[in-house]
Amino acid sequence: MRILFKHIKELVQVRKEAVVFVAGQQMKELPTLKNAYLLIEDGKIADFGSMEACPTIAADEVIDATGKMILPSWCDAHTHIVYAGNREAEFVDRINGLSYEAIANKGGGILNSAKQLNETSEEEIYLQSKIRLEEIIELGTGAVEIKSGYGLTIEGELKMLRVIQKLKDNYPIEIKATFLGAHAIPAAFKGNKDGYLQILIDELLPKIAAEKLATFIDIFCETGYFTVEDTELILAAGKKYGLVPKIHVNQFTAIGGVQVGVKYNALSVDHLEVMRPEDIEALKGTPTMPIALPSCSYFLSIPYTPARTMIDAGLPLALATDYNPGSTPSGNMNFVVATACIKMNMTPEEAINAATINGAYAMGLSNEVGSISIGKQANLILTKNIPSYAFIPYSFGNPAIEKVYLKGVEIK
Ligand code: NIG
Ligand code: FE
Repeated sequence: MRILFKHIKELVQVRKEAVVFVAGQQMKELPTLKNAYLLIEDGKIADFGSMEACPTIAADEVIDATGKMILPSWCDAHTHIVYAGNREAEFVDRINGLSYEAIANKGGGILNSAKQLNETSEEEIYLQSKIRLEEIIELGTGAVEIKSGYGLTIEGELKMLRVIQKLKDNYPIEIKATFLGAHAIPAAFKGNKDGYLQILIDELLPKIAAEKLATFIDIFCETGYFTVEDTELILAAGKKYGLVPKIHVNQFTAIGGVQVGVKYNALSVDHLEVMRPEDIEALKGTPTMPIALPSCSYFLSIPYTPARTMIDAGLPLALATDYNPGSTPSGNMNFVVATACIKMNMTPEEAINAATINGAYAMGLSNEVGSISIGKQANLILTKNIPSYAFIPYSFGNPAIEKVYLKGVEIK
């Protein structure tokens, strides 16, 4: 099957040479081709170039993209889209003055979602989660990481990871699974955090490894949740089973989690709303990708990750949604890109790089997605008639997408 797009107003994020990720000053460069063609063959990008050089190609379908742009699909490297029920009552509690912390302390928050998840069947969780997956595909996401972490019991965590596996089997979007057993201390282990961690290590990890249910391991390294020592313990245990760390750190307090992530070669350290100079220093020259989650800052009214300081210091940065029922009930990468520009002072070039190529790196998918490169999956966004790519964040909240393609197939 061959599809040829012709007269593309601008083909965005064109990378002829393979790029793993972009950092610092490089993030300001977003290579594009104006008046371009793009050829897709058997689900992959087969060729592209400027229209003047467009060869005569026998294609099964020719699409005239006059006035429209094509971008690689968004790469959302941090989500929790598998969950049961919602928490809009907590949202109203926050409006009425309770803090996210106070809600968690009275048994709400992550423990509220854990209760709902453990009371819901695997089939029902799948049905609820697939709606969210379909929603983000429609919004232009072509690769997504999904975490466990609302089970907090052996059965609950395995149930979540099996739902992620089922989504992976049934949808053409690229999915990577993360084991986040250490998301919160479950009610049954109140006062016995070490006992819970030991169960994760001795009982859950071997099962997850045997069933190959996860690629990554995560922990919420935060005051009141898990310490730096707990983080070391979990990451070391995960490494024994080949699980690569991607961790929640520096959301509310900076306690040294970034340094542990770097020590254990984490693929990413995520949140980073609170960054000390030594945290920025620790990330320099490492393979660890910092990930900002601006929708979470927006929804919780907490500080935004200091993207400007980090990029100006030479660091790379990826953007993701954090789609989850408590701190970010939204999976819209278009909104994330816009918010990064509007609230974090990132340029459209930086934000698009962060949401595509750098997001792909943060899922270990640099060779598969994240740019318009020959051999990569044809996971694409075809825009409406828009004047420029900067119009996407500029017209925040307004839909700029006309069609999305996954592995070369239009998703209806
Ligand atoms: O990434 N910070 C930790 N975990 C999630 C939110 C969890 C929840 O409130 O359900 C996050 O924001
Ligand atoms: Fe998260």
